[in-house]
Amino acid sequence: MKEKYALIPPNDLNKIIETIKKTRGFDFSNYAKESFQRRIKRILVLYNLTDIDVLLDNIENDIDFYKKFIKEITVNTTEAFRDPTMWLYLRNVLLENFKKREKIAIWHAGCSIGLEVYSMCILLKEMGLWDRTTLTATDINSDVIEKAKSGIYDLKEYQTMYNSYIASGGNPLDFNYVVKQDKWFQIDTDLISNCTFKEFDLVGDDAFDKFDIILCRNVIIYFDEHLQEKVFGTFYNSLNINGKLILGKTESMNWSSFARKFDSINPQERIYKLRSLE
Ligand SMILES: C[S@@+](CC[C@H](N)C(=O)[O-])C[C@H]1O[C@@H](n2cnc3c(N)ncnc32)[C@H](O)[C@@H]1O
Repeated sequence: MKEKYALIPPNDLNKIIETIKKTRGFDFSNYAKESFQRRIKRILVLYNLTDIDVLLDNIENDIDFYKKFIKEITVNTTEAFRDPTMWLYLRNVLLENFKKREKIAIWHAGCSIGLEVYSMCILLKEMGLWDRTTLTATDINSDVIEKAKSGIYDLKEYQTMYNSYIASGGNPLDFNYVVKQDKWFQIDTDLISNCTFKEFDLVGDDAFDKFDIILCRNVIIYFDEHLQEKVFGTFYNSLNINGKLILGKTESMNWSSFARKFDSINPQERIYKLRSLE
């Protein structure tokens, strides 16, 4: 790289991907190229690196650097009750249909700092489904998992959470799920107690359990089609018959070879149901 922090030549990007794959077993070759390029540039700036060989050496030989590197590469943006119309649909339709069930298993894949998981907990509580549900929440990034487990968030997140809760059909009088302090708030510990958070890599790890609902929202947007196909395979193997898969608003399975195994039950909210006969 001649010019400091210029566009990284494709050759160098490939070297980075190859080194990670060879030395760490993590395959970024199918990650969306532009996003990968942007994030590598940010890492070079952050660590004041001008020589790609130094970056490669750090990835290969410095485990602490590598862990930080992985955390920089992944995007963790999230909020509670994100896309309120999706939560409204869960409240009015999808979870209504689960009321006859004795047990419900939900997996949040790519849960980031947990706000999506706690939104689901609140909804389950309000619908009387809480006691019969188990929630598993996973992410590749150990830092966000730790934050999710703590249930502690900056007070800045609070207003968004409250507004979106109302927009998703919540009653202002019922919103007593957090303890507020000057600068932060904490999710009710009872809500946290029903959730299991753990590290899981959607690219490298395989199905580990069966679920009735899987949410994987705003995660595969960073994967190319080959990788998305792999992830859909994992979800296919992880869903019970008639299980629901919920993607992010801009994500779709329609183009994939798995589309014929699922019915699109809410195209606008990107919700799919596993067909019973395959
Ligand atoms: C943009 S956040 C989405 C969070 C939440 N689902 C939402 O919609 O608000 C994407 C999350 O996916 C995680 N992620 C990225 N690549 C992953 C992978 N290969 N395996 C598991 N999680 C991954 C990131 O660490 C990040 O926390």
